[in-house]
Amino acid sequence: MPVRGQGPAGFEAVGSVAVRTFAAHQGPLTSRVTQPANMSMDGHHVNAMAGDGSGAPHNHFADYDELPEGHFYDPDAEYEPDPEYAATLAPDAARQRRERVGPTGRPLPYFPIPGPLTDHGPAKIIAMCNQKGGVGKTTSTINLGAALAEYGRRVLLVDFDPQGALSVGLGVNPMELDLTVYNLLMERGMSADEVLLKTAVPNMDLLPSNIDLSAAEVQLVSEVARESTLQRALKPLLPDYDFIVIDCQPSLGLLTVNALTAAHKVIVPLECEFFALRGVALLTETIEKVQERLNPDLELDGILATMYDSRTVHSREVLARVVEAFDDHVYHTVIGRTVRFPETTVAGEPITTYASNSVGAAAYRQLAREVLARCHAE
Ligand SMILES: Nc1ncnc2c1ncn2[C@@H]1O[C@H](COP(=O)(O)OP(=O)(O)OP(=O)(O)O)[C@@H](O)[C@H]1O
Ligand SMILES: [Mg+2]
Repeated sequence: MPVRGQGPAGFEAVGSVAVRTFAAHQGPLTSRVTQPANMSMDGHHVNAMAGDGSGAPHNHFADYDELPEGHFYDPDAEYEPDPEYAATLAPDAARQRRERVGPTGRPLPYFPIPGPLTDHGPAKIIAMCNQKGGVGKTTSTINLGAALAEYGRRVLLVDFDPQGALSVGLGVNPMELDLTVYNLLMERGMSADEVLLKTAVPNMDLLPSNIDLSAAEVQLVSEVARESTLQRALKPLLPDYDFIVIDCQPSLGLLTVNALTAAHKVIVPLECEFFALRGVALLTETIEKVQERLNPDLELDGILATMYDSRTVHSREVLARVVEAFDDHVYHTVIGRTVRFPETTVAGEPITTYASNSVGAAAYRQLAREVLARCHAE
């Protein structure tokens, strides 16, 4: 993972990719252009920022002639969202302007605001899956779940990563838990009600996890029907929920295979950066194997582009490649990069409540409408 948000020194680590990002930067820079601490008021370096051995200050900005002298580009800084991108997230975006093109380069369909439900279940199970780390699985699980719950759907989130990031992101301290999804998997007779936690979001519950779950990966190996342990554990819960979303760990091990065996649909978040597609072939192969051998109902619902920065050619190019490779499987909804997401983890709540009017919240609400539209189209 490239180190981000540390100014020019951080970007050197990602080499040509970062250079392309810088060079490609277009449009007004507003507050994304930050004055480094070691700049004098007139924008000149007051000390060397990087040692190249010569003792002379290294000019990080030489190649980026769009950037005003003495400024650097900080993709994590809070900034005015790109109005073009933000406009595509309005619930009636497709109606406001006929033939509006979305960020994926395809005409944006209209995703209607879903009506209320009179009865609930049986749940559709979605596995949020990519063996690559840090692509937005946990963020997407929390926020898609919260957006579906806002639309009146009953949602259960399953933390299926021993790191417990989903639990932390919902304000739960995994270290303090007596019972987790591990107990539900491994102890016969354990009921989900004993493990379930209500979240602060109405309509949304959590099956939490902590480091105990890492033992399950080993212990399950000797179980009968080891791949369908989670499926069996979730079965009694299906009538109570409309959606169950499983946050997978970044691996294709037995826990992830359990999630895929339990699921009806897979969502694959992909970060809009240079190596996004690396490893995706292995993931689709794993999905196909699970389809053939364990779960014929499993479908790839969609590829979700995350951490997209509409103002960089790099992000747009990566997204174009992803659309080229996966075509209609790519959701029209694209999640922009904003520092608001890391902030929500600290706050322990979804972006839909933490920053309800933000572009990030609008993006996950649109994703929820798109996921519902795909369900209804079936
Ligand atoms: N759209 C976004 N814009 C900016 N930062 C984001 C965005 N989505 C996620 N992040 C941040 O990126 C980091 C990784 O995200 P997240 O934890 O959701 O990924 P993950 O795929 O679940 O990671 P892991 O593989 O480790 O489980 C987090 O710090 C998160 O806050
Ligand atoms: Mg995660």
